[in-house]
Amino acid sequence: MTDVATTACDLLDTVGNTPLVRLAKLFPQDGVEVFAKLEFFNPTASVKDRIVRHIVAAAERSGELKPGGTIVENTSGNTGAAVAMIAAAKGYRAILTMPDKTSAEKQKALQAFGAEIVVCPTDAPPDSPEHYVKKARAIAAETPNSFMINQYDNPVNAEAHYATTGPEIWRQMDGRLDYFVASGSTGGTVTGTGRYLKEQDPSIKVVMPDPIGSIYKTYFETGEIDESEIGTYQVEGIGEDHIAKCMDFAVVDEMLKFNDDDAFGMAREIARTEGILCGGSSGANLYGTRKLVEGLSGPARIVTVLPDTGLKYLSKIF
Ligand SMILES: Cc1ncc(COP(=O)(O)O)c(C=O)c1O
Repeated sequence: MTDVATTACDLLDTVGNTPLVRLAKLFPQDGVEVFAKLEFFNPTASVKDRIVRHIVAAAERSGELKPGGTIVENTSGNTGAAVAMIAAAKGYRAILTMPDKTSAEKQKALQAFGAEIVVCPTDAPPDSPEHYVKKARAIAAETPNSFMINQYDNPVNAEAHYATTGPEIWRQMDGRLDYFVASGSTGGTVTGTGRYLKEQDPSIKVVMPDPIGSIYKTYFETGEIDESEIGTYQVEGIGEDHIAKCMDFAVVDEMLKFNDDDAFGMAREIARTEGILCGGSSGANLYGTRKLVEGLSGPARIVTVLPDTGLKYLSKIF
């Protein structure tokens, strides 16, 4: 009989160590091996459990987050779910701001954990007090004993991926890979993971898909922000209308553009071909991977990341 006491663990110990699976049906090309890191195996079914666990632990150690405190964050939903879950598990209050394009499933999940949500217009310009990032800062400033996760500008975000996602991929690939493909919003995933992998093997190339409507690709190529590019799109959690401090373009080798149909089409395709139900940003990473594969002239081992589950977007994508 199994002794439950010896097998049980703390909920937060289940964050990370996610599976890496080969996508042989979606990418059947000779000599090409594509692997996907399934981040929906985390407790709130997204990659963001990693960074919130890391940031909350660091804030507790530094004394920035005290017992009875309130955690505040601007979030497209996944970071919010991670904050809401970890706040509930550790006994903190949580207040979360998000753009109104965030799917209903994501909004309700936060409330299920007991978090308070503030929904802001998606098309509010970055300098407007109604923009969800500005709104979170205002709430944090007026709430006593509050701590802001500050995922866009907090270097501990990328450190979480440097400490966990990168080493896991390196181990799971036996140290043999050529490309890492990841889109970004805060840039934590691509920066922390990409930096770790390149430190192990400087020949590894990092490819970053960027939605039409985001400023990142032009900034990567020219060092300039072109505000005329800022537009709305339906894919959640990636691309930006401002430069996140967490995003280090030095780890990126190549960027490419995609639209909602490209990303959602790939999310639908992988569900039917591989039996993997993932979200729109996963679809974007798979689209970027497909474009990379189409341009290859020799064998390659490629890793991409599927940041969250399609269950969060059943009514929006599928
Ligand atoms: C669904 C989804 N995919 C991808 C990302 C991008 O990850 P990062 O913020 O690490 O760049 C996010 C971040 O909000 C997200 O919510």
